[in-house]
Amino acid sequence: MDIKYELAKKIGSIIDVDVDEIFSAVEIPANSEMGDYSYPCFRLSKVLKKAPPMIALDIAEKLNVNIELSMIESVEAVAGYVNFKLKKEFIVSEAFTKVFVDKDKFGSSNMGEGKTVVIDYSSPNIAKPLHIGHIRTTMIGAAIYKTLKFLGYNVVGINYLGDWGTQFGKMVVAINKWGGDRRAAISGGIESLVELYVKFHDEAEKDSSLEDEARGWTLKMESGDQEALEFWKEICDVSRKELDVIYERLGISFDSYRGESYYNDKMGVVVDELREKGLLQESQGAQVVMLDEWNMPPSLILRKDGGTLYPTRDIAAVQDRYDMYSFHKALYVTGLEQKLHFAQWFKVVELMGRNYAKDLEHISYGMISLDTGKLSTRAGNIVYLDKLLDEARDGALAIINERNPDLADKEIIAEQVGIGAIIFNDLYNNRIKDVTFSFDKILNFEGETGPYVQYSAARANSVLVKAGYTGNYKPKNQIDFSLITDKASVELAKLIYAYPDKILESAKRYEPYIIARHLMAIAQGFNYFYHENPILTADNDLREARLMVVYATREVLKAGLSLLNISAPEKM
Ligand code: ARG
Repeated sequence: MDIKYELAKKIGSIIDVDVDEIFSAVEIPANSEMGDYSYPCFRLSKVLKKAPPMIALDIAEKLNVNIELSMIESVEAVAGYVNFKLKKEFIVSEAFTKVFVDKDKFGSSNMGEGKTVVIDYSSPNIAKPLHIGHIRTTMIGAAIYKTLKFLGYNVVGINYLGDWGTQFGKMVVAINKWGGDRRAAISGGIESLVELYVKFHDEAEKDSSLEDEARGWTLKMESGDQEALEFWKEICDVSRKELDVIYERLGISFDSYRGESYYNDKMGVVVDELREKGLLQESQGAQVVMLDEWNMPPSLILRKDGGTLYPTRDIAAVQDRYDMYSFHKALYVTGLEQKLHFAQWFKVVELMGRNYAKDLEHISYGMISLDTGKLSTRAGNIVYLDKLLDEARDGALAIINERNPDLADKEIIAEQVGIGAIIFNDLYNNRIKDVTFSFDKILNFEGETGPYVQYSAARANSVLVKAGYTGNYKPKNQIDFSLITDKASVELAKLIYAYPDKILESAKRYEPYIIARHLMAIAQGFNYFYHENPILTADNDLREARLMVVYATREVLKAGLSLLNISAPEKM
């Protein structure tokens, strides 16, 4: 039974508000002293023409008169909220039984059934190195992807590769000038290409003719020159291979790699339509859509030389996505610095009369940097993503060597822990916050870190293994949950009970941190429980009941980490 929904129905029988609306307003208070569920009455005050505290009082009184719900302990009106306390026994048995009955479905839903969400994420400009900045779009996008999928949405992950543009011209010049044999240079892989790219930038500062030369190659490529296109193709292929290595390390993949170049011949129709609809204007030789009315600078559609621009391509691409998937929502996960770009072309699409304009959403985020360490002082100040992952892995290995030197498969686990640490840190705050991190902090097994959560899951696992429960755990007898009454266990039960709600909230706001923070709370709650309660040495029934608590914790931590694309090693 879904209690939140039952509560909403009850409230709905007292006030004249749609049950679904009440349902989505009911929250789980951060402070559990306030109750287990809370219904804020502030929005009602306009409609009902009464002060919120009065409305809350009224609802609480009427409900109190007639609570048939056996799981409600009390209903109380506090400062405009109606607070519900659930019976302890109810929460305890409900939380653990739900996980036990179907751990894989716990927290899932079919609310997304029949709706398609396309998420454009990672989308790097290839032929440039993947760097520390790319981790954010990649992991935020991947977490949203998994979370929505878990809620029953049909999700399409699109890697809109930046596989066209000026970087290719630069690369060709660099290969020709300093790369020696062209094929050898390209097949040397991304590392050597990146070196050439960096060299191009250094040299171009001294000699500006290099930029002209690069522009020449870009133009050749754009006009379909055979030689230029061959170069382009080879560079793309090498970059793609290298990208896949990193994506595999991060444990992610995409449903579509339709990149920028795919739209080369699909922008003409966009330009024609804009022109027909009278939306295009000339401005300093370029073609633009004026957006003054919405307090935005013009959206640039065609360059002076007729070349198309970033927005033009996005407008062509979104139409293609709509034609392919008839999306319910289309999300774009990029840094905050692209906010204006998206606001502008979303508006242009609206002016073109597209109904789906309202379903486009820019999922933005703040910057990421390393606070110290050798990676940040490398040449060109670029922190390469693969080096970052290596460093995290090596750091994790050093810690494992100290804590648990005999651990089997240390290298594999170090990779999972190191990368998990980076991802968790990336997802631990509101997206929009900047992230600055040090390896010492994010790898600390006792801090608010990924490794701490992973370690808690591994600890739960080892308790179960010691109890003889490996693989699929099945309790021996009917579990007697009435034995579970201590504060630590009940707190933990409440956290597990609240997990499905956190997933919904995370999905609704496209905020993975809500899941990450909740996993942290569960991990902390588990360690408190573990500290307070002997498990393996407890008497029969109590032992079984506590093992069930351990089991549920392990499963929820594992499932939650997996939504964030973080592995949960069995041992650490
Ligand atoms: N390639 C772009 C960049 O690296 C990001 C693309 C985001 N997606 C989009 N549809 N514009 O900044």
